[in-house]
Amino acid sequence: MVKMAVIGSISTDFVVTSKRRPQAGETIFGENFETYFGGKGANQAVATRRLGAETYMLGAVGTDNFGANLIMNLENNQIDVSHIKTKQNLPSGSAIINVVEGENTIIYVAGANDAYSCEDVSKERAFLSSCDLILIQNESSPETVEFVFNNLANEQCKIIYNPAPAREFDSQFMAAIDYITPNEHEFQLMFPEQTMEEILSQYPNKMIVTLGSQGALFHNGHELVRVPSYTAEQIIDTTGAGDTFNGALAFAIGNHLELEEAIRFANLAAALSIGKEGAQNGMPTIKQMKESVYFEKTWNIK
Ligand code: RIB
Repeated sequence: MVKMAVIGSISTDFVVTSKRRPQAGETIFGENFETYFGGKGANQAVATRRLGAETYMLGAVGTDNFGANLIMNLENNQIDVSHIKTKQNLPSGSAIINVVEGENTIIYVAGANDAYSCEDVSKERAFLSSCDLILIQNESSPETVEFVFNNLANEQCKIIYNPAPAREFDSQFMAAIDYITPNEHEFQLMFPEQTMEEILSQYPNKMIVTLGSQGALFHNGHELVRVPSYTAEQIIDTTGAGDTFNGALAFAIGNHLELEEAIRFANLAAALSIGKEGAQNGMPTIKQMKESVYFEKTWNIK
């Protein structure tokens, strides 16, 4: 079993569907309101666990009522929650999501997620080194993310960095990272001066740029490779598709798939994930993956 540590945000998603977005000072009527479990870290943890990883969540919740529910949800998904901290006098993380014609805008409020500190990570060093993979994103504080790069590079655990949401990046950290998965927008903010081709060829088999319905792009050491996406049967809600991709990619790499195969596997998981509302509800189990006509026997995942 792949031993996977996910360091990141654990949040509640407050999702309002409306016909359009309000302008400044305007009140409009929404169509629907739902709460879902979310947070990029928690979403990626759920994605890996559904596929069959032994998943450990590292992060923090606050002392509000949401915190206990967020932990319960992870437990219900058979994720180990013993490394999660509860931060006093802070709200748990939340995301205010507005869906208009299937397109999301998100306001992320970090709350306790931001209080998961370098000190917290440093206490987990021995545990983290014992994992096969660490998945980390940008809904943790920059200091915490950089602490992981500085202290866990070159250990037996591989580091997969999903730089979402977008923020500036010091490319000196590329040496510490085993795989990095920006989308186009994140890529442009991280590497504003260079083209995608230049950067991808500089980091072969390490950087994967996700392009939504256009699939994903990486360089295999000889040439650029575009790995096409799968056509989704139903597009209900794309929130969390990127998290499903990242969780599935990490799981496939942990199962020793070649990078191109791992990306195909992750593309399939992402396509299946968007058939249900909420970030986590549509994330496929390994059984659902195997039932798909696109599942490849050569992936050889038990
Ligand atoms: O990637 C999707 C997630 O990002 C949502 O679940 C929400 O929590 C946002 O921050």
